Amino acid sequence: EKSGYDYFMLKEIAEQPRAVADTLLGRIDAAGSLTLDEVRIPDSELREVDKVVIVACGTAYHAGMIAKYAIEHWTRTPCETELASEFRYRDPILDNRTLVIAVSQSGETMDTLMALRHAREQGAKVLAICNTNGSTIPRESDAVLYTHAGPETAVASTKAFLTQLVACYLVALYLGQVRGTKWGDEVGAVIRELSEIGTQVEQVLATMEPVRELARGLADKNTVLFLGRHVGYPVALEGALKLKELAYMHAEGFAAGELKHGPIALIEQDVPVVVVVPAPRGRSVLHDKIVSNIQEIRARGARTIVIAEEGDATVRPYADHLIEIPATPTLLQPVVATVPLQVFACELATARGNEVDQPRNLAKSVTVE
Ligand code: M6R
Repeated sequence: EKSGYDYFMLKEIAEQPRAVADTLLGRIDAAGSLTLDEVRIPDSELREVDKVVIVACGTAYHAGMIAKYAIEHWTRTPCETELASEFRYRDPILDNRTLVIAVSQSGETMDTLMALRHAREQGAKVLAICNTNGSTIPRESDAVLYTHAGPETAVASTKAFLTQLVACYLVALYLGQVRGTKWGDEVGAVIRELSEIGTQVEQVLATMEPVRELARGLADKNTVLFLGRHVGYPVALEGALKLKELAYMHAEGFAAGELKHGPIALIEQDVPVVVVVPAPRGRSVLHDKIVSNIQEIRARGARTIVIAEEGDATVRPYADHLIEIPATPTLLQPVVATVPLQVFACELATARGNEVDQPRNLAKSVTVE
């Protein structure tokens, strides 16, 4: 069933363009308007929503973190993203105008399930974003938007993550459409770009050989750090999580703006730091900020591995290794920026002789606390 690939993870990474396209299929019409038939929460109720809370664990939580940026920007509705394991034991303030979104590949994660039960008991409406038909989380939710990634076998989530992102964008855009917020030129352009995002993922996959080579050269390192800002921050966290679970290396993701508040003390000669760079100047106010962050860490000896938009000449002088990704609207960038990090972690795990599909101590579906 690995279809010629050495590992399920490699197969699932390669399936991402299709998975992403399948998740979009039938949900955006030619005029750019969205139909999410399965979301059976009436529009009138969606218009009443005054707060969105996203709950999830692990990689799904990173998708939820990215969704927060999209929901707040496109719908102007306050949104919080919380680890399900924390949320369920707090006393969160929810009512029938709160929309809770539970994101889960398996649909069986215990903490996420308990978080959604906790939310429903308090009258909140729950929408599941899930990859497994008929699993417990969608069954217990008011509505479900399925990701169409197909079965994911490798413990490390890859195609499920990319499709969770797509589903989150669809929900955010749908909320914007129903509520009539931000429905201008920017959103129209985003919808067009989102429809094409699978092709961009394919382009990234075609250029991964240098990333694999770079990973093999880092197999004896102890630590890899990841930096990002805005939606690049959850991407950094996801890159670090992949590396921990697959390569068993110390890996940490930071918001680049936090560097001076502590993490910069970790920078020493030759420590690899992966930096996710937002769109170049003019399209992201954060571009220049991250370029100075790269200069700061490089001046202290870091070996910089820079993921940046193709043609971004400003970062080039500060990148010891440059990984180029296609241009996309800022909020969609995580879809393309995550792919090299998956390949990087998979290759490092292989180089270190680890079991890629079944990392030690981990289970695909965490059905206990
Ligand atoms: O099935 P779920 O999406 O609810 O699983 C959540 C996490 O357990 C999962 O994403 C985990 O972090 C992955 N192993 C990450 O690669």
